[in-house]
Amino acid sequence: MNIGFFERGYLPIKVVRLAADILTDYGGKLADIACGKGVLLKEVEHHGNKSVIGIDLAPDQLAISKANGMTVVRGSIFEMPFKDGKFDISVCFNTLYNFLSLSTLEPVFREMARIIRMDGKIVIDIRNNRNILLNIKYWLHMKRGKHPTISHSLEEINALMEQNGCSLAQKKAVGFNNPYIAWGYILIYEKKAR
Ligand SMILES: C[S@@+](CC[C@H](N)C(=O)[O-])C[C@H]1O[C@@H](n2cnc3c(N)ncnc32)[C@H](O)[C@@H]1O
Repeated sequence: MNIGFFERGYLPIKVVRLAADILTDYGGKLADIACGKGVLLKEVEHHGNKSVIGIDLAPDQLAISKANGMTVVRGSIFEMPFKDGKFDISVCFNTLYNFLSLSTLEPVFREMARIIRMDGKIVIDIRNNRNILLNIKYWLHMKRGKHPTISHSLEEINALMEQNGCSLAQKKAVGFNNPYIAWGYILIYEKKAR
């Protein structure tokens, strides 16, 4: 794997590697939302799933994905150019922590739920807001005027997903498996009939 990893932080790399491992248990059509340079897509393909597509808004990121052989489309995570129920699984990593308000996340989850079939899965990661070290890091990050970065509570994310008909099926800690020192979680939701 040679795209993106060497210019990234410890946590994004850890998230992508853990996510790719988890996703080996789930086949089917996969959409990677805010795919960036396609690092996760490449990992998932490498593990055997060839039915993957990425979506991102940034032309430079999409160009790198394409150059690495990934299928990607340009579009917004708030309004994705995909039909209802087209995918078995929609995933989004290392991105939701850049959205400061929950009201901004809700339409993203609505779209992620819309594009998967009934009983399909949504897999995301969040940064853990009970981890004090992480909160200090993000506070400093914001103070230095860098792009917005925030941790989330599992409960608030679960509530937003429930609003969109998706229930938490599994959670995996990123780093230590302790609610106060886990860096974050990979969360797997299942879309249920309402
Ligand atoms: C930190 S990168 C994460 C990339 C990738 N998921 C990964 O883990 O390597 C965040 C990505 O979100 C994309 N992005 C931000 N806002 C977006 C929007 N409204 N619609 C689509 N993509 C967006 C950016 O272009 C960027 O590629």
